[in-house]
Amino acid sequence: MKTTLKISTLALIAVLMSCGGGEEKKKTGFSYETNSTTETNTSAEAKDIPASKTIDLTNKGIGPITSLNLDTNIDANLAKQGEELFTKTCTACHRPDKKFIGPAPKDILNRRTPEWVMNLILNPNNMVKDDPLAKALLEEHNGSPMPVQITSEDEARALLEYFRTL
Ligand code: HEC
Repeated sequence: MKTTLKISTLALIAVLMSCGGGEEKKKTGFSYETNSTTETNTSAEAKDIPASKTIDLTNKGIGPITSLNLDTNIDANLAKQGEELFTKTCTACHRPDKKFIGPAPKDILNRRTPEWVMNLILNPNNMVKDDPLAKALLEEHNGSPMPVQITSEDEARALLEYFRTL
């Protein structure tokens, strides 16, 4: 009885081992496909990052603002003016901290240059035509473009200061 048990155990082990070996072979046989699937996934992931989440801290955009240095301190008065303007003119399409018809401006300066932000506010028509990032954003938002509402650089600057407080 003992011997029978031993033999059947051995037989079982042998079967298991050969199965294992077989599976390994199978895996190797499919390794090419596995690799190509991984590659496809990687590029799909890169494409899946929406324009509103991409980070571009070099592009200054197209428009009147070519260079802007921000003081490390936030100007509270200017930010207050910006907040009023935002509430009056932008909340039809934007919420400060969540996506609405347009993206949320919260943390925008972690994603964009200050020049780009002001140029998009002041010059949205040329931006969505010729700036690759603004173009991609417009596509992500189903082609509903941002209207020109602000033409004063001071007002655009106030809006930017408000965004820094979000
Ligand atoms: C009619 C709706 C609408 C109004 C009003 C509007 N926006 Fe937009 N905004 C959008 C849409 C849609 C996008 C994304 C597509 C694009 O850039 O055209 C956008 C994009 C932006 C972006 C870029 C966000 C990012 O994450 O890159 C900023 C900044 C911005 N808007 C600021 C403003 C400000 C400031 C105002 C008010 C003066 C304003 N918008 C008014 C619809 C609007």
